[in-house]
Amino acid sequence: MEPVNTSGIEGENLKKTLPVLPGSIAPTRYNKSYRRSCPLACRGQQLALAVHPRWKAAPVVLETENRDRMSVSASYDASDITVLEGLEPVRLRPGMYIGSTGPSGLHHLVWEVVDNSVDEAMAGYCTRIDVTLLADGGCRVADNGRGIPVDRLPNQDKSAAEVVLTVLHAGGKFGGGGYKVSGGLHGVGVSVVNALSSLLVLEIDRNGKHHRMEFRDGGSPVTALEIVGEAPRGRTGTTVTFWPDAAVFDEVEFRAQTVLERLQIMAFLNKALEIRFKDERPGRQLEETFKYTGGIVDYVKHLNTAKEALFRKVAWYVQSEDDQEAEVALQWNTGFYESVYSFANGIATVEGGMHEEGFRKALTNVVNKYGKAWNFVKEGAETLDGRDIREGLTAIVSVRLTNPQFEGQTKGKLGNTSMRSLVERATNAKLSEWFDENPKEGRQIVQKALLAQRARMAANQARDLTRRKSALDGAGLPGKLYDCSSRDARESEIFIVEGNSAAGSAVKARDPRTQAILPIRGKILNVERARIDKMLKNAEIQALIMAIGAGLADDFDLTKIRYGKIIILADADVDGSHIRTLLLTFFLRQMKPLVEAGHVYAAQPPLYSAEVGTAKVYLKDDAARARFLEEHPNYSKDFQRLKGLGEMNWQELKETTIEASKRSLLQVTMEQASIADEVCSVLMGDDVEQRRHFIQTNAKDIRFLDI
Ligand SMILES: Nc1ncnc2c1ncn2[C@@H]1O[C@H](COP(=O)(O)OP(=O)(O)OP(=O)(O)O)[C@@H](O)[C@H]1O
Ligand SMILES: [Mg+2]
Repeated sequence: MEPVNTSGIEGENLKKTLPVLPGSIAPTRYNKSYRRSCPLACRGQQLALAVHPRWKAAPVVLETENRDRMSVSASYDASDITVLEGLEPVRLRPGMYIGSTGPSGLHHLVWEVVDNSVDEAMAGYCTRIDVTLLADGGCRVADNGRGIPVDRLPNQDKSAAEVVLTVLHAGGKFGGGGYKVSGGLHGVGVSVVNALSSLLVLEIDRNGKHHRMEFRDGGSPVTALEIVGEAPRGRTGTTVTFWPDAAVFDEVEFRAQTVLERLQIMAFLNKALEIRFKDERPGRQLEETFKYTGGIVDYVKHLNTAKEALFRKVAWYVQSEDDQEAEVALQWNTGFYESVYSFANGIATVEGGMHEEGFRKALTNVVNKYGKAWNFVKEGAETLDGRDIREGLTAIVSVRLTNPQFEGQTKGKLGNTSMRSLVERATNAKLSEWFDENPKEGRQIVQKALLAQRARMAANQARDLTRRKSALDGAGLPGKLYDCSSRDARESEIFIVEGNSAAGSAVKARDPRTQAILPIRGKILNVERARIDKMLKNAEIQALIMAIGAGLADDFDLTKIRYGKIIILADADVDGSHIRTLLLTFFLRQMKPLVEAGHVYAAQPPLYSAEVGTAKVYLKDDAARARFLEEHPNYSKDFQRLKGLGEMNWQELKETTIEASKRSLLQVTMEQASIADEVCSVLMGDDVEQRRHFIQTNAKDIRFLDI
């Protein structure tokens, strides 16, 4: 019997849009790094604090400080103009499509393929996705969706499947009948993966047949799309297996943890979608299945497990109309920070946007109304500020719509105004109902907000005091700061150094023109467990705020920072990692834009030194030591294990860690805000049991944080 296609996705739905003249130079600047939830994607969807196992997961970017100079020839005419064909632009400028060729870009390939399967799930055709890291370094993503269309495109002698894999801006998400809502927008995702892989095998089960096609060396078809057998009975779906090209990426090894985190968020956002992960690489075998029948309610519970929930219930509501839907889940914890994460069509909107705006506005309104109605907020008393209400709030705002418009610097901001109105109306109506039905919880929420309001007022006074004091001091800089002479933040950096002897060496080792040193004493206050009024009274915190010079919390102004690089310099041992974590927690909680914009770094003092002849060679870590042994097979001396910064003299410190041309720095990125938040809570929060569990389960992976 002739198979009947009921899916509505066929070759003719795969519109090809040509952004510019066919074959012309790459289309409008387009960077997909903002894409779906990663981890904290949102490049750097991770405090991917560089220090933690998870932070390791984060695309950690080693910065390159020395730029190549390029020479130019005198003539410049038509022969200098290059027209790139097919997938060439991707090969030539991978960064434009995947952000970087470092770990973040590498994992981006996985996200692109998985995103397509998730789009099938959102369209209602896919219930299960299998992601496998193969023993030989490849990655396989299999779904049970409709399968990429295999029939020929009109006016082409190629199958639709071949076209979507080899032509940029070809896809079924430009308004054909195939997808109503989708994360995919541009029709480039899977072609980019193809272009950056040394081998890609595409398999499609459709119309009862198993189809197969192979591409090599950046997307050149080796075979046509062939029918190689029967599809398992009744099965449809797409399987993409790819091997990232080692000629493109700095390294081609996937990190299981990074992939897992992302898949888990996808599973939360797509209720009941089953996502299975399998790592088949020798020595790292691991299997995990994510499936959440509670969807974002489970997500909120999960985020709050590391904290202490204020009550057990999670409020949840959904409202849809026309071509859009808004779903919200929320719960408060006893902590002091706000964790509101929003998504549009499964893509993390790290900069918020209309949906978040609508939610915040309505939430403030609902809680104030409720507080007044029950006389918790007294007649004539100041109304509760949104910030007070959101203290300790964990919320997920997830919307789906046909034509999402993304704006903002990282394209992580939703621009559709109709969404503001939908979320606002839904929250006003349905959250009010929830408050009415849950008076005990409602009361707890208002009381917490009242406490926050009092603390904020106290903090304002403390802040005024600090301001006045610094005005009296003159420059308003902390007394113990060794400032640099340059006033240009673009070239200035500050090292935050723990311990007097290390700080002393650092002062000698620095370039006084551009490098400032701020010594700090012992462990700074754990801001995860202190309200802002207490924080402002702490001397070390005050010094940090004054030195950086851009205020804090809501008043933080990135344009005022006095240094472009804030570098944490601490030992590679337990104490050092604790200090690093405390400082990162402070920056993340109180100066978030600083982390988001990539101004925070961790210095990497070397772990070993070796002697070659009379020269001393410093080796960053175990991998560097292994490489050194490969290069010097006859090396027989011992490696010296460098214990602490304090043990290096200032010349050594300068050569290995401080001098810009020799050191290596780890940039702290915010790949997935919710993960960053979670890590902070787990490591710095109140729940000791949770912390122990977390550290035990992640201990293998821990590089810096070896508690
Ligand atoms: N797993 C899949 N199942 C069904 N169709 C798919 C799948 N993967 C890709 N496709 C089809 O191939 C098209 C191209 O995919 P591609 O990832 O290149 O672009 P996109 O998803 O449309 O947009 P974006 O560039 O934003 O990812 C999709 O629009 C869809 O029609
Ligand atoms: Mg896609």
